[in-house]
Amino acid sequence: HSIPNASIVIFGATGDLAHRKLFPALYQLYQKGHMKENFSVVGVSRKEYSHEEFQKDVYGAIEEHTPGAETEKIKKFASHFYYLKMDVTSEKSYHDLEELLNSLDRDYSTNGNRLYYLAMAPSFFGTIPTFLKSEGITNTEGWQRIVIEKPFGHDLPSATELNKEIQQSFNENDIYRIDHYLGKEMVQNIQVIRFGNAIFESIWNNKYIDSVQITSSETLGVEDRAPYYEKSGALLDMVQNHMLQMVMMVAMEPPGELKPEHIRDEKVKVLRSLRFFNEEEVQKNVVRAQYGEGKMKGETVPAYLNEDKVDPESKTETFVAAKLFIDNFRWTGVPFYIRTGKRMAVKSTEIVIQFKQGPMALYHANKEQYQPNLLRIHIQPDEGVSLTLNAKPKGDTSDLLPIDMSYNNQATADMNSPEAYEKLIHDCLLGKSTYFTRWDEVALSWEFIDRITSAWHNNPDASLTHYESGSMGPVEADEMLQRDGHSWWEPT
Ligand code: BG6
Repeated sequence: HSIPNASIVIFGATGDLAHRKLFPALYQLYQKGHMKENFSVVGVSRKEYSHEEFQKDVYGAIEEHTPGAETEKIKKFASHFYYLKMDVTSEKSYHDLEELLNSLDRDYSTNGNRLYYLAMAPSFFGTIPTFLKSEGITNTEGWQRIVIEKPFGHDLPSATELNKEIQQSFNENDIYRIDHYLGKEMVQNIQVIRFGNAIFESIWNNKYIDSVQITSSETLGVEDRAPYYEKSGALLDMVQNHMLQMVMMVAMEPPGELKPEHIRDEKVKVLRSLRFFNEEEVQKNVVRAQYGEGKMKGETVPAYLNEDKVDPESKTETFVAAKLFIDNFRWTGVPFYIRTGKRMAVKSTEIVIQFKQGPMALYHANKEQYQPNLLRIHIQPDEGVSLTLNAKPKGDTSDLLPIDMSYNNQATADMNSPEAYEKLIHDCLLGKSTYFTRWDEVALSWEFIDRITSAWHNNPDASLTHYESGSMGPVEADEMLQRDGHSWWEPT
């Protein structure tokens, strides 16, 4: 599919996301030939900049984040970029934008197709679409799509209000709420592994699956993001979006067709079956913790409380582990354990499906050697799938030997790979919304999360524990699994 001619407006064009992810992603689409010459990008922010300065900036970002990119190619790419200083709360600014876009429509024969990418402070997520409509900018012959970064609200009421505001200017079909985990190669692959292989689909249920674990651990700390992170914490930063998205992908029913609405319908049904906790259940099934000082690669790193711009009394969690229940025919009785945190021992995202033991314990004589079958989906840094089986070592022995059948997609050397963004922007330009979150998904995920937030709010001290930086989280997270006779499978 080739991308139709269009103008892309990036609000927040001088920010970190634009530099690290969006420019490199667009460049990839360009150099792979998906985007031909008929496109323009308008960068918007409050800074005073000329087109030339902005193009230099774009050039620098590609050079930095795309090793091996050719100078001439980058220059040609950057020549499609224009800059506009805007106060996004003033009407007048939108008139300037309209004028610029109209002239770019002519120069690049875009047919009025426009994509607006909101990569700036969430407080403007409602304001911008409202002005885009009221000032007539969305009133062209072509399509109008809007991409909204996270966070989409901070609880259900705020998300609902934001959504109402955006829907007054854009149709639901044209609203692309981004969750970059859905752009990851192996997250998209879950569906293919499941529905493309009869051997898995037939055992993908509570008869054969014992439990599911999803771990997304990070080594970085809060870095310079405390002003945002202090208010969000790991629950809002990772669980409400990325972790629940992975749960949905693992647990959804097969869609009737591979169309966006079919897939999204099945995903949202998972959230409808997800058990929403009361306060007591939150205490039992959700662990929250904050990192203390510790060693990472031999260096001592500070506790969260000593990080720049963090309140020394902060109760913000940097780690969450939870035991989730999906109360439907397929999953009743199968716990979904999830955990995510900062300053953990490794940077890794992995899904582990643990299968039940067979009906007769013929080979369990040596319990230590017996391993349950595990299907691991490696999302990052390695991309692949592996299946652990039991076999026998060579020779006359009754020993068991766990063997691994594995497929490695290709190790992504660069963790900041723009790949996920590249895929998602590509989809959006083609009008494919499968891997974007629909409003009903967002609403239900907030409903689930809000109950946890309020339980913690009512009991702030009792529920926060600590873990050492460089570890895999607090003992409470281990104990939660031990109570069920389980333990966390460490990333491989
Ligand atoms: C972002 C969070 O959404 O995801 C960050 O705001 C987190 O705090 C990041 O570091 C993790 O993404 P990835 O792709 O590196 O796993």
